[in-house]
Amino acid sequence: MRRMMTTWQVAIPWLLMILGPRPTPSLAAEPPRHTFTIGGDDFLLDGRRFQIRCGEVHAPRVPREYWRHRLQMVKAMGLNTVCAYLFWNLHEPRPGEFQWSGQADAAEFCRIAQEVGLWVLLRPGPYACAEWEMGGLPWWLLREDDIALRTRDPRFLSAASRYLKEVGRVLGPLQVTKGGPILMVQVENEYGFLGKDAEYMGAIRGALIEAGFDVPLFACNPPGQLRDGYRADLFPVVNFGSDPAGGFRALRQILPKGPLMCGEFYPGWFDTWGAPHHRGDTARYLADLDFMLRTGGSFSIYMAHGGTTFGLWSGADRPFKPDTSSYDYDAPITEAGWPTDKFRATRDLMAKYLLPGESIPEPPARNPVIAIPTVKVTEYAPLLANLPAPVEDATPRTMEHYDQGYGAILYRASLPTGSPAAIEAAAVHDFGYVSLDGRRVGVLDRRGNRFRLGLPERKEPAVLDILVEPMGRVNFGAEVHDRKGILGPVRLLASGAPAIELNGWKVYRLPLDGAMLGSLRYVPAPESARGVGPAFWRASLEIATPGDTFLDLRPWGKGVAWVNGHCLGRFWNIGPTQTMYVPGPWLKSGRNEVVILDYLGPERPTVASLSEPILDQLRPELDFARGRRPAVKLALEGRRPVREGQFSSGTAPQDIRFSEPREGRFFCIESIDAHDGKSFAAIAELSLLDPAGTPIRQDGWRIAFADSEEQSREDGSAENAIDGQAASFWHTEWSDKQPVHPHRLAIDLGRSMPIAGFRYLPRPGDGNVGGRIKGYRVYVDDGLIAP
Ligand code: GLA
Repeated sequence: MRRMMTTWQVAIPWLLMILGPRPTPSLAAEPPRHTFTIGGDDFLLDGRRFQIRCGEVHAPRVPREYWRHRLQMVKAMGLNTVCAYLFWNLHEPRPGEFQWSGQADAAEFCRIAQEVGLWVLLRPGPYACAEWEMGGLPWWLLREDDIALRTRDPRFLSAASRYLKEVGRVLGPLQVTKGGPILMVQVENEYGFLGKDAEYMGAIRGALIEAGFDVPLFACNPPGQLRDGYRADLFPVVNFGSDPAGGFRALRQILPKGPLMCGEFYPGWFDTWGAPHHRGDTARYLADLDFMLRTGGSFSIYMAHGGTTFGLWSGADRPFKPDTSSYDYDAPITEAGWPTDKFRATRDLMAKYLLPGESIPEPPARNPVIAIPTVKVTEYAPLLANLPAPVEDATPRTMEHYDQGYGAILYRASLPTGSPAAIEAAAVHDFGYVSLDGRRVGVLDRRGNRFRLGLPERKEPAVLDILVEPMGRVNFGAEVHDRKGILGPVRLLASGAPAIELNGWKVYRLPLDGAMLGSLRYVPAPESARGVGPAFWRASLEIATPGDTFLDLRPWGKGVAWVNGHCLGRFWNIGPTQTMYVPGPWLKSGRNEVVILDYLGPERPTVASLSEPILDQLRPELDFARGRRPAVKLALEGRRPVREGQFSSGTAPQDIRFSEPREGRFFCIESIDAHDGKSFAAIAELSLLDPAGTPIRQDGWRIAFADSEEQSREDGSAENAIDGQAASFWHTEWSDKQPVHPHRLAIDLGRSMPIAGFRYLPRPGDGNVGGRIKGYRVYVDDGLIAP
């Protein structure tokens, strides 16, 4: 018999539901405690059904001064919870050194969320992904040559446990059980994409409990990976960008009872340099949200507000697609915190599902915006004239070996006199700007594994400089073991002579931190920037009334920008992003300083800013590596396919086995026709199976050939077929040209290996969307690609 409750006892949970969590009173009084549990059908907040209407916001991607504004926007969108990652590498920049202040003050972010009336879902990692440098893992783990990240490697687990203990110290007191807003805590992140080791997940779970977390712990995975690493003592949620019915059906297979939650529901997607800006399908997004609301499901919109990946924190998608610094994500709340139609539509939709008496507050006002007219840059500091003391080393090694995490690194060696030749490095992560005696020769480029470069004749011994610019460390898959700099020896190749391994290097560490910027010696800038090598350019801007603005980087090449010492992130003239968000609070009335490091050199050294961002302007003609991939020929003539057949229609993954394994370095799939009868081909994911039927790791894979890729109206890059993300896909051209079948895509595995089959994941989307391949042929061989 249920016990009769007093008015207050009834009213308080209702009030909680309507008003959201109440701020923690001062330390003196015991904060009100609440219970949050996982019921048979619903989440229960103080015993009452609670539908989590959540949105993801990353505190480090929002200027601290605007945390309250953005959280009020989330509340005004009709949400009752905010979901936040913690990025380990931001909080533990060096082993045992923790930072929780400034942009890293996660506790303050949670407190403000509570004050604004939002509950919190916390995702401390240790791994996050999130298009963040190394997925949030700290670079210094890579100083151990053979460390296995995200496994039960004791070196990894002990470091991760120390970090999580610290997270418990700082954020444990903000759990709902202690009067704070944190309802649930996530263990790891989409681990099923990487492994199946439930013991590893158990170890991370144990570390969080050890650290003092007593709220429910959950794990997220996409539908296809829910069983991988599954543990009954971790509440599962499913991540998807479409087909919620299908996603929840998959979840019900491992969660027969209990609330259904989508841990990441994508309204848009992230951008990578050189690929078109992503825009989400708003109609489908709203329909899927409505479905989840109507059926009582909970969800978290990833991203509700993307913000900006300031500093050098942006990551890279695998195999190597560096992420833009703008993380606008086509989210309902823009990078600068502005409401969009998607925001308004979401707000109206949420309003249809409010609890009696619950209301949605008005959104806060937009922050003031300014535009700054063009000023000429008057000073510059050539990088080669501002070098620190070098480290001497026989052979070049990675940045991590020189105890450097971020920035850039210059490797210098002397070259003997000699006829035209070439240098070749084992690998360069990520761009190596090569110069001889200070004159630019060319760029070594990880995108096409272009690690060889021709050199002119040298009548005198010459100084060879390889200035390596690392973009972010890959944030997904096994590729997070992404050491930067020069990997392996550099050889001099002269025709008719044996290759010479170059030894005796001077290595200059360029951390691009405040100390380095403060030590630069500026001189008057030259009239023309033509032929100027890598340099820092400084301009001062007089501003009467500061406001948000968007620095216009279109006159510049490729590099990093700072305003008043704040690092805004990376820029690259190939786009799609052409502006950088400058938060008003980082500007001041009077003189402001802009510093731009440009590895390539500006078209014209001027600085200006706009009142609107430019997020969707590709300029492939400016790419120093025209054509992202070396031009090769696909040699299929006279070859017999190892397998041919028909794929079934629909979105489910399909495993195709060969009658017997075939050895080869290249894998090529050829489409004969499509299920919709049209001329397009598309693939969301391709993975290859070894003789045991296990997916082969994709380290070092790259796309060797693709006959057609849509590159203007959407990002149909072939790399999407091997980036591990089911939401992105290769799609042949459709907006201007529409080449017909057969379409071909070939993968270079980097070395020959036995392949026993492959897994084909069709492009996502409801109904009979274009590109779903029907008839196919596949080839495996060493000779499929001819230079
Ligand atoms: C995954 C990850 C997120 C993010 C999204 C893509 O689902 O869990 O961190 O990387 O993909 O934006």
